Amino acid sequence: MSFIDNVKAKAKANPKRIVLPEGDEPRTVQAAAIIRDEGLAIPVLLGKADAMASVAASTGTDLSGIEMIDPATSEKAKAYAAALHELRKAKGLTEDAAAKLVADPMYYGIMMVKMGDADGLVSGAVHSTGDMLRPALQIIKTAPGMKLVSSSFLMECPDHSLGADGLLVYADCVVNPCPTAEELAHIAIASANTARTLCGIAEPRVALLSFSTKGSAKHELVDKVREATEIAHSLAPDLALDGELQFDAAIVPEVGASKAKGSAVAGRANVFVFPDLQAGNIGYKITQRVGKASCFAVLQGLAKPCNDLSRGCSVDDIVSTVAATAVQAQS
Ligand code: ACO
Repeated sequence: MSFIDNVKAKAKANPKRIVLPEGDEPRTVQAAAIIRDEGLAIPVLLGKADAMASVAASTGTDLSGIEMIDPATSEKAKAYAAALHELRKAKGLTEDAAAKLVADPMYYGIMMVKMGDADGLVSGAVHSTGDMLRPALQIIKTAPGMKLVSSSFLMECPDHSLGADGLLVYADCVVNPCPTAEELAHIAIASANTARTLCGIAEPRVALLSFSTKGSAKHELVDKVREATEIAHSLAPDLALDGELQFDAAIVPEVGASKAKGSAVAGRANVFVFPDLQAGNIGYKITQRVGKASCFAVLQGLAKPCNDLSRGCSVDDIVSTVAATAVQAQS
């Protein structure tokens, strides 16, 4: 069974209520119908009723049985606005401004998740990553015990000799532009957890990546990755984790054996932690485009699951991301 089929099977076993704020977007509307038909989740579409109906008609999609909410006229809008005001008044958010924000489907959807009226949220077919991340970070916040929110990109490669039967977990390719050593350590541990819980990788082996392997180069950027490795070791002593490693030393057994002798991770890594967002974002796109990997991202560390799509996403990508979000909501 492919990785994504596995995720879908888990999602179906305990369907969760997932809100889609871009309810008048054609791919989202089509995805909602597939999600309903396959029983992957209980989708909720947000938007103006006539706009959603018109997209359904133009795409030939039957939306019967799917809940649709217009945030501007919803009976819950007042309560959500009051709750949002309470949450953000110390940051200067007025009652009026909270009411206006809640009329925006993105904020309404995030408030549904916050208030327990939905188990998770998927958006990003239209909105930018920042548009979705900012309200999620401000309102949903980090889960207890988590230092920060980050992301894992789940890369399914055609070459099954790589990583965990072809599956590689890349982090952080979405959220943190310039993580400190301590933040990198937390990203490493959170990504190992995603590998275990969402990807079913029983033994995550985490490589903290650099342009140096075990002191082969001297630079303050290398020192940061080495420090991150030490912090991660002290926080999660039982986790198979090593750094600093170059990508080839992390993934190719022969290179790992020659450059990092005795490492439990080198040459066998399945979780790859990039030193910053530029490296991570470029790295996942190279793997996707040149390496022909299929991929999608999940956020980790949020108190409740919210996930971002690429604006170039397909209907299938939305379905897969909703299934992954539902699985995150189960745990
Ligand atoms: N974890 C937890 N909370 C965070 C994090 C984090 N990593 N980053 C910011 N926050 C919180 C802040 O503490 C703040 O909370 P508060 O308002 O309650 O005090 C809130 O989020 C807003 O933080 P700001 O720093 O004011 O927000 P900023 O405008 O910097 O936006 C964002 C944060 C959106 C995450 C920003 O760092 C960003 O744009 N990251 C890159 C996103 C991106 O473009 N990714 C690449 C493309 S994605 C792709 O290719 C798939």
